[in-house]
Amino acid sequence: MVHADASNFADGVSKQEAYEQVLLMAEGLFHGQPNWVCNLSNAASLLWHAYKSLPSPSNQVNWSGFYVRDTASSKPQLILGPFQGKVACQTILFGEGVCGTAAETQRTQLVRDVEAFPGHIACDGDSKSEVVVPILVPVAEGSDEKRTVAIIDIDCAELGGFDEVDQKFLEELAALLAKSCAWPQ
Ligand code: SME
Repeated sequence: MVHADASNFADGVSKQEAYEQVLLMAEGLFHGQPNWVCNLSNAASLLWHAYKSLPSPSNQVNWSGFYVRDTASSKPQLILGPFQGKVACQTILFGEGVCGTAAETQRTQLVRDVEAFPGHIACDGDSKSEVVVPILVPVAEGSDEKRTVAIIDIDCAELGGFDEVDQKFLEELAALLAKSCAWPQ
């Protein structure tokens, strides 16, 4: 199989099947490849093409990508990482917006209506709903305490674009990325 075929999804696949393909392809692509830029770039592509192969609302996804912890900043903040979609905000403080809330609380934010989320950052006025999943790694080997190294951010131009199925599979992808990449310290 040529590499680009990993982004091809069969007509009529269910959301669950599309995510299963994303995870399978991601696992293969990440094998022996610890570079986070490389792996997040391929993951953004897989997600984008998966959503585009699905019926509404998933095919109305207008941004799929990542923010990573900005290790060059003295304050806890995220900086834009690899993505598919329109140009986006470059930095987001921990605790700000949907992305910063997921980064700070270390919990997935499933937002049916972004207008109803206090402090939502409108990078694109077309975005109506959003899901953000933190990527967490142990602070030390064997430790239960985690640090946020990045977040997965998916935006949709329809209200209620995401549900518990999206949350479940994106959390699996976050766990796979957490262990597959060498994250900036
Ligand atoms: N809406 C996000 C900002 C990032 S963009 O959607 C790509 C937020 O509130 O954190």
